[in-house]
Amino acid sequence: MEQTLLMIKPDAVRARRIGKIIDLIEQEFEIADIRMKRFTREEAERFYAVHRGKPFFEPLVEFITSGPVVGLLLTGENVIQRLRDFIGATDPAKARPGSIRALYGSNIQENAVHASDSAESAAYEIPFFFEERRQG
Ligand code: CMP
Repeated sequence: MEQTLLMIKPDAVRARRIGKIIDLIEQEFEIADIRMKRFTREEAERFYAVHRGKPFFEPLVEFITSGPVVGLLLTGENVIQRLRDFIGATDPAKARPGSIRALYGSNIQENAVHASDSAESAAYEIPFFFEERRQG
C-alpha cells in the first residue's frame, strides 16, 4: 500500500476551492489525514529544494508562503501515479480537461495543487504536514 501527499496551494485556498477539491479527491481516493498550515520561508525552501536554482524557485517560494495550504495524506494501491494523473499537467492550460488543475489552476505557478512525484518525494514531503507519520 502506497501513500502520497496532495497539497492544496494558497491560490486555491484564497479562491475558496478547498471543499470542491476535497470533494473530487474523496470520490477517487482514500483520505488518511488532513491538515492546514502556513509554510515559513525556510520550510518552503526545503519542501521545494529540488527546484533551487531554477528561474521559478524564488517566485514559487514567495507564492507558497503567501497564505495557508492544506495537506492531504492519501493511501492506496499505486496512489502516487494515480494522483499525478488525476490532478493533470503542471501547466493548467495543458492539463487534461476535468482535472483539478484544468478546473482550478490559473497558470503554471498558481496551479491549485501539488502532488508527490515519486515514493522518495512522498517520504520527504509527508513529514512537512504529518510529522508523526514519518514511519507510516
Ligand atoms: P508543483 O507540482 O508544486 O512543483 C513545482 C512548482 O513550481 C509547480 O507545481 C509550479 O507551481 C511551480 N512552477 C512555476 N513555474 C514552473 C515551471 N516553468 N515548470 C515547473 N513548475 C513551475
